[in-house]
Amino acid sequence: MTKTLPALLLTGATGYIGRRLAPALQGSWRVFRASRTAAGEGALDLDLADPDSIRRAFDAAVPKAVIHAGAEADPDVCEKNPERARRVNVDAVKTLAALCGASGTRLIHFSTDLVFDGERGWYTEDDRPEPRGVYARGKLASEEAALVRAPGAVVLRVAAVYGRPLGGRLGFIDHLRAKLAAGETAAAFTDQWRTATAADQLPEVAARLLADPDLAGVFHWGGGDRATRFEAAIAFARIMGFDEGLIRPARSADAKFASPRPRDSSLDSSRLAAAIGIAPLTHEAGFRALRGAWG
Ligand SMILES: NC(=O)c1ccc[n+]([C@@H]2O[C@H](COP(=O)([O-])OP(=O)(O)OC[C@H]3O[C@@H](n4cnc5c(N)ncnc54)[C@H](OP(=O)(O)O)[C@@H]3O)[C@@H](O)[C@H]2O)c1
Repeated sequence: MTKTLPALLLTGATGYIGRRLAPALQGSWRVFRASRTAAGEGALDLDLADPDSIRRAFDAAVPKAVIHAGAEADPDVCEKNPERARRVNVDAVKTLAALCGASGTRLIHFSTDLVFDGERGWYTEDDRPEPRGVYARGKLASEEAALVRAPGAVVLRVAAVYGRPLGGRLGFIDHLRAKLAAGETAAAFTDQWRTATAADQLPEVAARLLADPDLAGVFHWGGGDRATRFEAAIAFARIMGFDEGLIRPARSADAKFASPRPRDSSLDSSRLAAAIGIAPLTHEAGFRALRGAWG
């Protein structure tokens, strides 16, 4: 007799993170991959700006669990269109979390290190978020909606995610690598500290969270060490065999971002690391694991 796998609704399935989660979770879950452009087996149409579309996707999947990795994840896009950002990043989570709460469905909701103002760094889950900008404020509001409306929900804050190229949206690491490979200089901030998250660890982290309903509430999952974007870029160049001299130091004030960026939004991930028995990869270890990823 074939075992029927429990249904998992994965929003943001075509995104940087969603693309990595879907295939990895496929063996233990019947994954419904939902987004505006998801295609193929298990794909569901979903427009997060439309509450009816969210309900339809939920009803079609009848999920035992939901991973919400769908969002307008570009802070500058959110800053320029706050009304749409609210609908996609906040109202959608209210709808989704209410559906989860009403049906006793477990919700794992992705959030961000940018909920912190970055004045201090090494934030734990007990530190008070002070979001700056439309995107960050919306993500914090979405966290609250998830936790209040879907009891037992997990809010998983990740940071500057990097991984091997899988098509779709390019990450900061792809842009950096493309410049270095072309022999072009790449500017990197000396005054922005991050604990970048290794994408390859996220499927295992998500699987552990799905497997253990006692893990509820807010968790951080960044990298195992903190580095400026400049330090991280230098390490990447060295490990990948590019010329480190191509990395040019830059200051945040020189960049014209529509949305503010925190100085040091580094995350302390030790609580979740201890709970699931996995150590978050340092920048160096994460980059070494990517050697050869671009062929
Ligand atoms: N990547 C990072 O470095 C990072 C860092 C911190 C936090 N996060 C959080 O992690 C989550 C996933 O981020 P990501 O980097 O994977 O984002 P991404 O690559 O920009 O992908 C966003 C996903 O959301 C979907 N989406 C966007 N607007 C939608 C809409 N109106 N209706 C339905 N689906 C929509 C997109 O699919 P379609 O275009 O096909 O609809 C895509 O699958 C987000 O909550 C983000 O805030 C990411």
